[in-house]
Amino acid sequence: MLFHWVRIFRLICLYFALYFENSTTQRAFAFMHNGNVVVLFIADINGKSGLAIASRFLPELIKKYSPTIVIANGENAADGKGLTEKIAQSYFDLGINVITGGNHTWDNPGIYEVWKKNLAALRPANYPPQNPGRGGMIYSCPSGLRIGIINLQGRTFMATIDCPFQKADQMIDDMRRETKVIFVDFHAEATAEKMTMGWYLDGRVSAVVGTHTHVQTADERILPGGTAYITDAGMTGPIDSVIGMKTDVAIRRFVRQVPARYVPAEGNERLCGVVVEIDPQTGKASRIDRLSIQ
Ligand SMILES: [Fe+2]
Ligand SMILES: [Fe+2]
Repeated sequence: MLFHWVRIFRLICLYFALYFENSTTQRAFAFMHNGNVVVLFIADINGKSGLAIASRFLPELIKKYSPTIVIANGENAADGKGLTEKIAQSYFDLGINVITGGNHTWDNPGIYEVWKKNLAALRPANYPPQNPGRGGMIYSCPSGLRIGIINLQGRTFMATIDCPFQKADQMIDDMRRETKVIFVDFHAEATAEKMTMGWYLDGRVSAVVGTHTHVQTADERILPGGTAYITDAGMTGPIDSVIGMKTDVAIRRFVRQVPARYVPAEGNERLCGVVVEIDPQTGKASRIDRLSIQ
């Protein structure tokens, strides 16, 4: 008799567990999909191990958020240095729609093939204009909605390329004639330069997401003008490393102060990024969530 009641009690517990799990999922789904654009951004995917962790989690994330667009930074795709056509294709096969870049984009000559074929892979727009590649594009969704993506690079503690602020002004003016939904990947070293870009573009773009430092910051917010902002989205790759590099190589470089060849680390990987929700009519963001999963 007691056994019988224990079974009934267990069934009741199971029913409530399933009910609450379901209703939570549905609430999250409804919140993210009331006609709004959802951008899933994956932070700097570092080498093979970064691709492995992205392959493991992306199908789950795409199922969970049903993103309108998936953007990933691929400046470290080829063993930490640049991007090749083959790797770009494997990113697209995973459901990534647009790949952004950074200072390391130029490290692998394979990138020139990517650009020759006009694949959806960007590099920072404010490199001198004699260079190949493009720093912005409009992505057309199957629904007809258009999303602008701009890739810029900072100049503090980095190469002194053209002004990212002036370049942003030019590009945003052009893009806003076609769409109000504009996502900016600002690849920069200095926190102050990234924050300045966020405030400079507040109200004119939907999101300013920082990349490059490989360490996720906890300052995600919606600025007063409706721009989603985070100083750095982090890295998708091994965390038992120095920003993706093997720790013994980093120690040799910093302790001895002589060059040592970069060797990508592996193991104990984490996927980092953000999810941004945007009103397609106004281009204003209503939500930014950090992703950091292992
Ligand atoms: Fe990077
Ligand atoms: Fe970088």
